[in-house]
Parts: sequence; C-alpha cells; structure tokens
Amino acid sequence: MFVSFEGIDGSGKSTQARLLADRLRQRGRRVVEVREPGGTPLGERVRSLLLDPEAEIDGRAELLLFSAARAQLVSSVIEPALQDGAVVIADRFYDSSTAYQGGGRGVANLDWLASLHTFATAGRSPDRTYLVDVPTEVAVHRRQGSANDRIEASGDGFYSRVRDAYNQLASLPRVRVLDGTLPVDVLHQQVWAGVIQSMNQEP
Ligand code: TYD
Repeated sequence: MFVSFEGIDGSGKSTQARLLADRLRQRGRRVVEVREPGGTPLGERVRSLLLDPEAEIDGRAELLLFSAARAQLVSSVIEPALQDGAVVIADRFYDSSTAYQGGGRGVANLDWLASLHTFATAGRSPDRTYLVDVPTEVAVHRRQGSANDRIEASGDGFYSRVRDAYNQLASLPRVRVLDGTLPVDVLHQQVWAGVIQSMNQEP
C-alpha cells in the first residue's frame, strides 16, 4: 500500500506521516518512509538546489527538477518497496507539484501536470492521500521561528493559491481531506481508521 501526505508548509502533515509509520511498525508491518524532494542521493542534491534561498530557478525549471527527483525516488525506492510488500509512506508526492508549481506559481495547467506526473512516476499513484488542510494564517503562525527556505519565502498570496489548488484535488477518490486545526492525536485516529479499513484489518 502506498500512502501520501500533503498540505502547505506548517500543516502538520509530516507529524501525521511519522505517527502512521510508527503505528504500522508496532503492528509488525514493514514500512518505508520517503520525503520529497529527496530520498535518493540524486534527490537530496536536487533538494538542496531547490531549497537554496540564493538559487535563481525559473518556475518551469523548478517543476522539472521536482519531477526529476520524484522519478528517481519512484524507480529506486518506492517501486522496489511496494514490490517487496512494504507499506510506503510519502511525505509529499506529485500533488505537491500540482499545488505549488501549478497553483502557487501558475506554470502549467492541471491536465498537463497530470501527464507529467504519469510520465515521471511511470504511472505509480498513491492508493490513499491525506490532505492536511489548515488556513494559511495558522500555518504561518506555526512556522514562526523556523528559517524560510526558497519556496517558503514565496509569500502569503502564494500559499493561498497553493491551498486552493490542493482543495481542488479533494474530489479525487484517493484523497481524504483532514482538518489540520484538530489535535494531533485526533487526526492520527482519523488516518489510522482509514488506513486500517483500506488494508482490511482490525483496528
Ligand atoms: P518539505 O520537505 O515539506 O519542507 P520542510 O523540509 O521545510 O518540512 O518541502 C520542501 C518544500 O518544497 C516545501 O515548501 C514544498 C515544496 N515543494 C514544491 O514546491 N513542489 C513539490 O513537488 C514538492 C515535493 C515540494
């Protein structure tokens, strides 16, 4: 099973990804956690370029770099892990590019992005995606005190476009939207109930 977590920076998605991974491991499941961009030697190098506040990167180049890192992650890590029966938990996957580069930067439309994602991932899609939705003000408040990377320095208008683009994905059958203002443990229970149900296991 392949589960991805999505949301704007400061939504709390990484915490939820980690809690799900821990609980599945306690249940004896083999879990492979990945984060985007990154997760492979190529991906980590692309990550440091993409997040470097000094780097000048055109929006289209940005989209293609994220996609390149993802292509490597799918072929070297995600696909082998799934073939091996592991549960793969991704902290961001291609919906991030749809929301940030498509919605936030406006570099491409949704149909074209969908084709790009199919190409980059050789057709691999998450079975379930949890979209942790929080108002941008809440996310900004939570991020206070942590240094801004290049993407995070894009401003508040950028984040509301990203959030809107995420919410346009809500009608996809694989996507579940969670209210990220709820307490961490309440959210985790919602995630757990859904994952257990789709794995046909007892809670
Ligand atoms: P993330 O790892 O969530 O940030 P952090 O390490 O600060 O928790 O993601 C890095 C940034 O990259 C984040 O601002 C979202 C952005 N991003 C995109 O713009 N497009 C993408 O396709 C992905 C995967 C991430």
